[in-house]
Amino acid sequence: MFKSIRLRMTITFLLLIALVMFATGLVLFNMLEKYYLSAAEENLKQTGGLTAEFILTYLREEPDAVLLSSVAENFSRQLNARVIIIDPQQTVLGDSLPVGGFLGAKMERPEVRAALEGKTGHSIQYSEVSEQWVLQVALPVEEDGVIRGAVFLASSLHPVYETLSAIRRLFLWSTFGALLFAGVLIVFSTRHLTDPIQKLTVAAQQLAEGQLDQHITVQSQDEIGRLAGQFNIMAARVKEMNRRLTRFVADVSHELRTPLSSIHICLQTLQGYEMEPAEQKEFLEDISHETQRMIYLVEDLLEITRRQEVTDKRETFSPVDLLEEVVDATRPRAERKELQFFTEIPADLPDLYLSMTDLKRVLFNLLDNALKYTPAGGWVKLAVVQEKEGLLITVQDTGSGLPEEALPHIFKRFYRVDKAHSRHLGGTGLGLAICREIIEHYGGEIGVLESREGAGSTFYFTLPAALFSAPPPAD
Ligand SMILES: Nc1ncnc2c1ncn2[C@@H]1O[C@H](COP(=O)(O)OP(=O)(O)OP(=O)(O)O)[C@@H](O)[C@H]1O
Ligand SMILES: [Mg+2]
Repeated sequence: MFKSIRLRMTITFLLLIALVMFATGLVLFNMLEKYYLSAAEENLKQTGGLTAEFILTYLREEPDAVLLSSVAENFSRQLNARVIIIDPQQTVLGDSLPVGGFLGAKMERPEVRAALEGKTGHSIQYSEVSEQWVLQVALPVEEDGVIRGAVFLASSLHPVYETLSAIRRLFLWSTFGALLFAGVLIVFSTRHLTDPIQKLTVAAQQLAEGQLDQHITVQSQDEIGRLAGQFNIMAARVKEMNRRLTRFVADVSHELRTPLSSIHICLQTLQGYEMEPAEQKEFLEDISHETQRMIYLVEDLLEITRRQEVTDKRETFSPVDLLEEVVDATRPRAERKELQFFTEIPADLPDLYLSMTDLKRVLFNLLDNALKYTPAGGWVKLAVVQEKEGLLITVQDTGSGLPEEALPHIFKRFYRVDKAHSRHLGGTGLGLAICREIIEHYGGEIGVLESREGAGSTFYFTLPAALFSAPPPAD
């Protein structure tokens, strides 16, 4: 039932307000009632005191019931209270109530007894007759320590309770008004909160359903605004990843189709025609060659996938040792291809903090290309220069070079300049794409420094100084 935040918040706040108002009201009324009652009592006592002083004259002599009753009546009119005059034996000498009064009767009440003992008696009682609460005060009428009687005043508390209930009504109405106002305010203010959440929910739902083109506009700078911002970034990335994945799958399918078609054709030819064993061998060699290509391709693809799964395994290491290892592994290959291999590696390079496997992979890929695309008799050079911004590593060769129009594409997956030739050399066109992914991951740059078709090329990449595990020496 309370599944919406808005409803929950509204109910919670309203309950809270009602609770606070109720508690405040309770305390306030208690205080007000006490205050009004004690004010009324004080007032009655004061006027009662004056009455007692006045009546004293009448009680010195033989009490005259008619006179005392008319005095009581007089006071009663002025004080708006019933006035009863009592002698020391608790007998009523005068009553402001002419009909049905207590004249001549005995008033056996604790307040009266208290008054006749020289104290002030008071009580609050509910009168069944008038159906009202009545405040009663009895005061002694005394002279020089002699109690000559008592005066009893009873005043209705109706006005007090009337005032209190008027205040209560006002309080209730204002509470009601406050609740209504707060309710409207909460509904509107929570809309600011829940509307963007609603938008986010719908967008997330659509994203989950495959509608990747999601962007929500939320103006606020608060938590929700930030969440919306993050959502937009996430949606954009999902879209981009999806685009790349689709491209990737398309590229892979395309690349796999070529060797597979070749194999298929070879097999069909082998099956359909009688041929000499030497000829058969040629076809089988083609099949083997294409299969090998596919194996390389799949291996490279696995490598790319692994790179996306494995999180950084960074470590601190000396690049000098690593470069030495790479050079040692490359030299025999260069010799086999009758290529000269030069190196220019400073002996005091700063330690690096990154994955050694990643750096080796980039170096091996670039050197592999240089060796692969340089004909016998040429040379290949690996050079490292330390600059303020980081390390600059170059791989230069005197190979085939790259045509101008190929330069923007060579770092793309599966791109090969001379497809037929590259295929013959066994490449899949993924080497440079892997290098770029690695270097960009570390915030470096990779590219072709210079290249002339037929005259060789220089590839370079940088490792920013941020990867130096120790600060670079100041120059
Ligand atoms: N040193 C180089 N000299 C000339 N051409 C190069 C050189 N390096 C790369 N290329 C060209 O760029 C293309 C892409 O290189 P990349 O390393 O990505 O793929 P590959 O070497 O063909 O295959 P792989 O490295 O995946 O086995 C190559 O096919 C080649 O045409
Ligand atoms: Mg390569």
